[in-house]
Amino acid sequence: MKISIIGSGYVGLVTGVGFAELGHDVVFIDVDEQKVEMINSCKPPIFEKGLKELMEKNRGKFYATNDYASLKNTDITFICVGTPSRKDGSIDLKYVESASKEIGKVLRGKEEFHTVVVKSTVIPGTTEEVVKPIIGKESGKEAFRDFGLAMNPEFLREGNAVEDFFNPDRIVIGVKDERTKKILEKLYEPFNCPKLITDIKTAEMIKYASNAFLATKISFANEIGNICKKLGIDVYKVFEGVGLDHRINPSFFRAGIGFGGSCFPKDVKALIKKAEELGEDPKLLKAVIEVNERQPLKMIELLKKHIPNLEGKKIGLLGLAFKPDTDDVRESRAIPIVKALLEEGAEIIAYDPKAIENFRKFFPQIEYANSAEDVIAKSDAVLIVTEWRDFEELDYSGKIVIDGRRVEKAMREAKIYEGVCW
Ligand code: UDX
Repeated sequence: MKISIIGSGYVGLVTGVGFAELGHDVVFIDVDEQKVEMINSCKPPIFEKGLKELMEKNRGKFYATNDYASLKNTDITFICVGTPSRKDGSIDLKYVESASKEIGKVLRGKEEFHTVVVKSTVIPGTTEEVVKPIIGKESGKEAFRDFGLAMNPEFLREGNAVEDFFNPDRIVIGVKDERTKKILEKLYEPFNCPKLITDIKTAEMIKYASNAFLATKISFANEIGNICKKLGIDVYKVFEGVGLDHRINPSFFRAGIGFGGSCFPKDVKALIKKAEELGEDPKLLKAVIEVNERQPLKMIELLKKHIPNLEGKKIGLLGLAFKPDTDDVRESRAIPIVKALLEEGAEIIAYDPKAIENFRKFFPQIEYANSAEDVIAKSDAVLIVTEWRDFEELDYSGKIVIDGRRVEKAMREAKIYEGVCW
């Protein structure tokens, strides 16, 4: 098939290159000139494990452009643009709206049936209440008759996105018309996993409910962990025991400083806003966010137990990315930690294997080290913020270590060791 992808962030890019690998012709449409150039020279604009290799392998099967007109020569268009939060936490649909408008304009001049698939995370109702009327108006065509419309959420984890694309736990396809259903079933035929066909707004909700549940697991583990810390119980052992119950499952119970990234905080907040708009009071979801905002600050409390006055003290940060194997710092727990340390008058020296340049844009005023060893050597105390594998190899002996992510070697070696909730 000929596939166009609008928006080449990590979802759009990985999805498109994945489809190219499966034998489809792919065009990426992005307004960002620099991204277009990079993709055309097989350089991923983001760091994502295995992506560069996959792009090189499929060179010639995809190209990028900023010209929407090129979607006319394709059969399916995936909308993969970002859906950021507004200041009040509600979802900002401006990119989805502008993409829909451009698609509509091109479809006006196209005779053949075209399928539009929303992959961006959108609040239930958006595909039919926002995307459909915009494309309809601009194209003068009727959805589900003259063009297909579907919602197909993504469940890719950053850092594992390529692997997740080829080996998903499930594929969810929200459709209304039979023709679009058949086209998407054909597209996803090579994937060997459960495929769930639903109506469009159910597919939209599955994405939110999945992310909200995973975020809840983490905040729940953190809440239990905070109690465990006071009682001298190891929360990791506790969840090993809890997770053995097949109704529960052991993953996503790693207690610590909470979740960051481009999805969980934004999606839970957007769901809360939507619920409130509908007259609901989503107490559990609000608590998930509250616990998550409190957790990183526990590192400062623990640090002050050992260094009560942080003024002029040099505090080392290991890890700035929101999780290992990515250069993404969006909603990273390092952000509130650095803010709090600066307020206390501490000097900061930080290191991350991939995310320094992205973090520097937010905090140009702190010092960045060339290596993790340098951070350890130059600081009065070390805070472990991201569990990069390399941090398991360092020498922590003689140091004060406050660990937000459970690095075993630091636990064994540090002179003073404090885990956030264990
Ligand atoms: C997530 C979802 O997993 C993915 O399905 C969705 O499409 C996008 O959002 P991602 O944001 O890439 O993916 O990261 P993920 O690996 O899920 O981790 C999110 C955050 O939770 C990280 O900050 C991580 O450190 C934290 N986390 C995760 C914990 O604190 N404890 C855990 O047990 C698991």
